[in-house]
Amino acid sequence: PTRLILDCDPGHDDMVALILAARHPSLRLEAVTTVAGNAPVRDTTRNALRILRAIGSRVPVYQGADRPLMRTQQTAQGFHGENGLASAGAELPPCDEAPAPGHAVEAIIRLVEASPGEITVVTTGPMTNLALALRLRPELARRVRRIAFMGGSTGAGNVTPAAEFNIWADAEAARIVLESGAPLAMFGLNVTHQARLTPAHVERVRRSGGRLCEPLADLLTFYLETSARHFGERELGAPLHDPCPVAYLARPELFEMQALPVQVVTDGGSAYGMTLCDTRVLPPERDDRKRNVEVAVRVDAAGFAELVLGALEGL
Ligand code: BDR
Ligand code: CA
Repeated sequence: PTRLILDCDPGHDDMVALILAARHPSLRLEAVTTVAGNAPVRDTTRNALRILRAIGSRVPVYQGADRPLMRTQQTAQGFHGENGLASAGAELPPCDEAPAPGHAVEAIIRLVEASPGEITVVTTGPMTNLALALRLRPELARRVRRIAFMGGSTGAGNVTPAAEFNIWADAEAARIVLESGAPLAMFGLNVTHQARLTPAHVERVRRSGGRLCEPLADLLTFYLETSARHFGERELGAPLHDPCPVAYLARPELFEMQALPVQVVTDGGSAYGMTLCDTRVLPPERDDRKRNVEVAVRVDAAGFAELVLGALEGL
C-alpha cells in the first residue's frame, strides 16, 4: 500500500479526502496533521478527530500551524461554516479527544525521516506545516516520496481572479514547497472542477444504510448549498477539490498529468497567490525550463465519483 500523511484543514471536501485516505485498501494513512485554513486550527483539529473517530479510524492527529508564515490570516468560515464543518441537519458524533502530543511539523519530519523514499505527503490546506518542515530539514525534499497537493490552478482562481484559496491563504509557504526540489503533483481548480459531487451522489450516500449516512449526507448537502450560493453552477454540483490528490494515490490512472514549470506569485499585487503555470510550447533545443510540478489536467469524472462513493457508502 501507499503510505501517506494527510495535512488538512477540514473542511467538507477535506472530510471526504480523510475518509478516502483512511478507507481505501491500497492506501495506508499513517498520520493526519492539521493547519489553520478553512477555520482556526483548533477547529480543523477537532473536525479531523471527529471525522476519523466517527468512522472508526485510530490514526494519530497532530495539530500544526495556527497562522500563515507572513501574511495576515484569512479563513473560509463564510464557506464551510463557523466551525469549518457545518451541517444542513444531522451532525457527526462529538469527540473531545486531544490531539496527539507534539507539533505537526515535528511529526512530519519524524515520519518521513524514519522511512526515506516511502512516505507521500498530501496537503489539502495551506502549506504552512510543510514549508516549516522543509525549512527545518531541507533534505526532506529528497526523503519524501512525493508531495501531492490540492491547490492552485492552471487558469482561473476562486478567491481572486488569479488565486485559489489554499495557495492564497499562505503563498509564501506554497512558494517554499514548490521551490524545494521535492517531487510534486498538483491538483488545482482546473482539474478539481471536473470532479463533481452531485445531489444524486449525496442521495446515494443517504440511502446507503450505514450508521453515519444521515450526518454524512447532511454535511455534503451543506457543501452543495454553500457552493451553489458562492459560485452558482447548482446543476453541475460542487467540485470535490481535496479528495483529488488522495484519489490519484489510490488510482493514478484516473488522472492525466502534464509536467510543467510552476511558480507561486508572492508579490503583493493582484496576482498574489497565483500558481503561474508555464504552458508555452518551445522547441526542445531552446527549452531549458525546469518542470518542477506534475500538474493534473484531466480526471475521469465517473471513475472518480465511484471511487469516492465507494468510501462513503455504507459507513
Ligand atoms: C480549497 O479551499 C478550501 O476551502 C477547500 O477545503 C479546498 O482545500 C479549494 O480552493
Ligand atoms: Ca481544504
